[in-house]
Amino acid sequence: MTEPKKLFIKTYGCQMNVYDSERMAEAMGGQGYTQVDSPDDADMILLNTCHIREKAAEKVYSELGRYKGLKAEKPDLKIGVAGCVAQAEGQEIMRRQPLVDLVVGPQSYHRLPELEAKTREGKKALDTDFPEEDKFNHLKSRPKAKRGPTAFLTVQEGCDKFCAFCVVPYTRGAEVSRPSQRVMSEARDLVERGVREITLLGQNVNAYHGHTKGLAGLIRELSTIDGLERIRFTTSHPNDMDDELIAAHGECEKLMPYLHLPVQAGSDKILKRMNRSHTAEEYIRLIERLRNARPDLHMSGDFIVGFPEETEQDFQDTMALIEEVKYGSAFSFKYSERPGTPAAERPQVPENEKDDRLQRLQALLSQQQRDLQDAMVGRDVHVLFEKPGRLEGQMGGKSEYLHAVHVHAPDVQPGDLRRVRIESSSRNSLSGVLLG
Ligand code: SAH
Ligand code: SF4
Ligand code: F3S
Repeated sequence: MTEPKKLFIKTYGCQMNVYDSERMAEAMGGQGYTQVDSPDDADMILLNTCHIREKAAEKVYSELGRYKGLKAEKPDLKIGVAGCVAQAEGQEIMRRQPLVDLVVGPQSYHRLPELEAKTREGKKALDTDFPEEDKFNHLKSRPKAKRGPTAFLTVQEGCDKFCAFCVVPYTRGAEVSRPSQRVMSEARDLVERGVREITLLGQNVNAYHGHTKGLAGLIRELSTIDGLERIRFTTSHPNDMDDELIAAHGECEKLMPYLHLPVQAGSDKILKRMNRSHTAEEYIRLIERLRNARPDLHMSGDFIVGFPEETEQDFQDTMALIEEVKYGSAFSFKYSERPGTPAAERPQVPENEKDDRLQRLQALLSQQQRDLQDAMVGRDVHVLFEKPGRLEGQMGGKSEYLHAVHVHAPDVQPGDLRRVRIESSSRNSLSGVLLG
């Protein structure tokens, strides 16, 4: 038997890349590769990259630079760039960093085995097509090995929204949904392998139309799978949040009360210039409707500060929106100019102004996050346990609201779902005791 070859994958960016990396590892498994967690003695290194902000893209080149020594020691080592930088920059990557043997975009990684074979012939391999065929249909079915209790499952890809700041519509292409039967069979497979919680992924997951009743229909159908205890989904766009999906938050027990619904800004002027096509008021009304359906819903969001022409008053409107919504968690970023997007051509906000706004915004968001977490003390939650904690006999998992929870529970196994009374709240997690 031949030695398995070693594949090291480093993943940047969003959860969709995490999912794609798993699928790429599985595709390469068929070529005799096993995944390893260090690049040092790998036969192939794949960087699954993100292009969303300038820093994210630059990280890729500094990481590639670090592999010079490895490649000198082991000329057979193949280096590949996958993901959104691959899509955005294509051949340019090989020009800028000649170490790179292979470039593959996010819609064509099912062709990775052929591309790898080409590099073994000493050729460079590039594929950044948006092929007619669906990559998911060309991937082998997933292996049956046991796995942890939580998993991502991509159900929708691409984006037709064209927010003025964003590269995703260019790197991931148009919105496409996977048919619900395929999603159902992949979900059943995951549950057989020990998965208890599935997070449905899509750049605009609530624009899913692979089921006649949309994402809500898919969630209701997934709910019928025995052994699947929890369903989450991310990321949603406010304009695609329909009545069915709002209702599902109140009616579907397996759908968790935590919703990531980015708004980006609270000023109508900025929202318009961002091409978000909704107002701050409409967003707030939408959250009211969601909270009517599910009063304990924890909200999460994304924010951009320093978008071109954002004034202090516009920024204050964002702060006011945050005050009104009260977020359980959030991600916030300084606006980053992305080549080829409309906003990159507009008058920019000075860097120090962006820094200052980001600090003030993050202080408010951290305070809200902390307040909501502290408010869990004394309450009973359900925890899906995932892995042992740092202390002897301790187990860690997540509550329905996605808070990290630690409990002294030597008999609890990963995958167990148990009731817990929360007793204390520290910086990043809650502690409690098992009930029953
Ligand atoms: N499809 C999702 C997520 C897209 S990317 C959505 O619509 O929300 C994740 C986040 O990155 C975005 O929500 C946005 O807050 C941020 N982002 C995207 N482009 C950016 C840019 N040019 N500069 C700064 N942040 C950006
Ligand atoms: Fe980017 Fe906007 Fe599409 Fe989200 S909705 S991926 S922010 S263009
Ligand atoms: Fe980044 Fe591409 Fe995801 S740009 S955020 S990896 S869709």
